[in-house]
Amino acid sequence: MAVEIKGKRLVFTREQIADKVSTLAQQISQDYQGKNPILIGVLKGAFMFLADLTRHISIPFKIDFVRVASYGAKDYSTGEIKLTKDVELPIKGEHVLIVEDIVDIGYTLRFLLDHIAAKGPKSLKLCALINKLERRKVEIPIDYVGFTLDKGFLVGYGLDFNEMFRCLPEIYELIF
Ligand code: PRP
Repeated sequence: MAVEIKGKRLVFTREQIADKVSTLAQQISQDYQGKNPILIGVLKGAFMFLADLTRHISIPFKIDFVRVASYGAKDYSTGEIKLTKDVELPIKGEHVLIVEDIVDIGYTLRFLLDHIAAKGPKSLKLCALINKLERRKVEIPIDYVGFTLDKGFLVGYGLDFNEMFRCLPEIYELIF
């Protein structure tokens, strides 16, 4: 059955996002001085955040991507996560920072942190633009957080609803 969208409410403006991205990039640049880290973007949602973040990081770094797909309704505890594209750079002995748009239930990041950790990086940290708490089922350590909020179906700035709204420059909450 099609879900009816009644409207959308602005949650974070372009300016708020830009300020936050700049602050996060400064912290990352300081913390990874001399470490030449690999930033791993999680497709598709993180593409815009990663692109903006990397333009503000002032130290040398490399970029790679992973793509994960979740099967079945993620509301269910059986939600299965599968890797559909792995990293291509060698990870062993490297400083790795995973860059994600949102941590919600937490299954995606639990899977990814375990997957990357198994490759033997020298260090492994997580940067998430949004930490959404209400539905969290597993504890996820987030080293760099942009915004924390409780709930709401968010779209824009990489986040989608059935592939819609991904390219909006602001972040909205959908009203159903
Ligand atoms: C979303 C989002 C995170 C993940 C968070 O991606 O971009 O990667 O879900 O999920 P969690 O509830 O397990 O914490 P999605 O699987 O919708 O794919 P997409 O990035 O391609 O939109």
